Amino acid sequence: MAQESPRLTGGEEIRRMRVADLDQVMDIEVAAFPSPWSREAYRREIADNSYAHYLVMSAGGEIVGYGGMWVVLDEAHVTNLAVAPACRRQGYGGRLLSALIELATAVGADRLTLEVRRSNQAAQTLYIRHGFVVCGVRRNYYADTQEDALVMVKEGLRTVRR
Ligand SMILES: CC(C)(COP(=O)(O)OP(=O)(O)OC[C@H]1O[C@@H](n2cnc3c(N)ncnc32)[C@H](O)[C@@H]1OP(=O)(O)O)[C@@H](O)C(=O)NCCC(=O)NCCS
Repeated sequence: MAQESPRLTGGEEIRRMRVADLDQVMDIEVAAFPSPWSREAYRREIADNSYAHYLVMSAGGEIVGYGGMWVVLDEAHVTNLAVAPACRRQGYGGRLLSALIELATAVGADRLTLEVRRSNQAAQTLYIRHGFVVCGVRRNYYADTQEDALVMVKEGLRTVRR
């Protein structure tokens, strides 16, 4: 499987998302998604949802991206992955996705799924490079544009090389 070759400069850190991160997270969220989640939705995820795992990547003290997932027993589902527009194509998204895969595996998941807009070629390419394959389509999944979602899955997390 092809692996990322991140062009990282060092000094980056990936850690759990905190409530104190949410101003910066929301700046990226509104720039990244046509129908952004609310700050309160993120607050509930990190404070109240024991199935949720959210990570941020910081570089030079600034948050440059984040990603999250839900893990229930051996099933994990990526909910969000975003990088600040000015920081894209520098390997951050790939590093975050690798960290989510590693964390999902560490907490017992063997299968990681996600939905992605059919038109979102950038994200699909990233996911394919990390070993995801398309396993289904949800028609008109996105309420804002009625766009289809491709369902992608990465199986065998405990056995497949990442
Ligand atoms: C998808 C996203 C997270 C990728 O973040 P990123 O930091 O730019 O990703 P990386 O730099 O790690 O890219 C890794 C690889 O993914 C692929 N990729 C990323 N962006 C791409 C683009 N715009 N076009 C084509 N391929 C792309 C490339 O293969 C890239 O490797 P390369 O730069 O060596 O060619 C970012 O574009 C983003 O935040 N998009 C808006 C939110 C979103 O769509 N999230 C996914 C929801 S399912």
